[in-house]
Amino acid sequence: MSDKSSRPELADKSADIANYDTVLLGFPIWWYVAPTIINTFLESYDFSGKKIALFATSGGSGFGKTVESLKGSVLSDTQIIEGRILNGKPSESELRAWVESL
Ligand SMILES: Cc1cc2nc3c(=O)[nH]c(=O)nc-3n(C[C@H](O)[C@H](O)[C@H](O)COP(=O)(O)O)c2cc1C
Repeated sequence: MSDKSSRPELADKSADIANYDTVLLGFPIWWYVAPTIINTFLESYDFSGKKIALFATSGGSGFGKTVESLKGSVLSDTQIIEGRILNGKPSESELRAWVESL
């Protein structure tokens, strides 16, 4: 079972978030949502006014309630968008087109 309230500790808290408007955030889907260390990450920095685009790998399921489960970890002026499930091997041009569309 998964404990949604757990907050595993980050080994590194020096990500240069302040200098970016759009952040790509990737993780494996666990129990239909992001692993809770992703909540820890979102709660560890100021993402005010930024856009966070998610990408994930999975064993076959989609994002499920991932966005919902992460929204509580950012302020309401932070936009979290579902982005892409990137299973398999998407081409560089496909990835580039997606990133440029954000
Ligand atoms: C604890 C745990 C829970 C998982 N839950 C899901 C799930 O809900 N849906 C799904 O499609 N895959 C699930 N998976 C499979 C992972 O998403 C998949 O193994 C991962 O994205 C592949 O990346 P990796 O090779 O880095 O593990 C789960 C894996 C683990 C270890």
